[in-house]
Amino acid sequence: MKIVRAKDYEGMSRKAANLISAQIILKPDSVLGLATGNSPIGVYRQLVEWYRKGDLDFSEISTVNLDEYYGLSKTDIHSYAYFMEENLFTKTNILAENTHIPNGLNLDELAECSNYNQLIQALGGIDLQLLGIGHNGHIGFNEPNEAFEKQTHCVKLTERTIKANASFFATQEDVPKKAYTMGMKSIMNAKKIVLIAHGESKAEILALAFTGKITPEVPASILQLHQDVTIIADEAALELLLKNSKESKI
Ligand code: F6R
Repeated sequence: MKIVRAKDYEGMSRKAANLISAQIILKPDSVLGLATGNSPIGVYRQLVEWYRKGDLDFSEISTVNLDEYYGLSKTDIHSYAYFMEENLFTKTNILAENTHIPNGLNLDELAECSNYNQLIQALGGIDLQLLGIGHNGHIGFNEPNEAFEKQTHCVKLTERTIKANASFFATQEDVPKKAYTMGMKSIMNAKKIVLIAHGESKAEILALAFTGKITPEVPASILQLHQDVTIIADEAALELLLKNSKESKI
């Protein structure tokens, strides 16, 4: 596990964008696993800037997103599909047919999950997976649980996650109660993982996930078993993790 310290959100975003950019340059037909939320907005902004300068070409890139709200259409401004269009897809030369997100409008949970698993397999797996981390340790929408869910599944979101995501909606009641998410196995199968986090509110969970015990109660903790994880975080988010790492000599 590599830990990269950034000064602030902008620094975190640039460093993560640098790794993604290197991936695209070294393997122009990479499969990128993407996340939504507050954390990656700056990363996407930076990638778009480099694309506009002519430094990056997305024409052969494929993407698979981690998750999507159950019941929301692509055109719903709250959907993750809409978020990706706004923040990255329509601002680069990525081909629409190469971008993939679970279909929130498919209410047949089993069929949608099976479609998404097959899709990831057909793409040959993920070369680089970008991740944020929830305050409860969730990754994608793999919420704390009694067991790690391996494959794509439909989850009931926890109160804490609903609250954390409410800022994107008019009221907390508007946040969907369920979501489709890639499972931990698909995430763990990614060749490289880049996890980004910023701000003091992520300090406790970063330390718990990466220096605590590996348990489905803290889904991100399983990343300790992955052989190529880079955590890029600002000083505030890293404070406890670095302190714990020093004490346990990780
Ligand atoms: C979203 C996702 C979530 C977020 C996490 C952190 O696609 O996968 O796991 O990464 O909830 O969200 P932010 O970045 O808003 O703190």
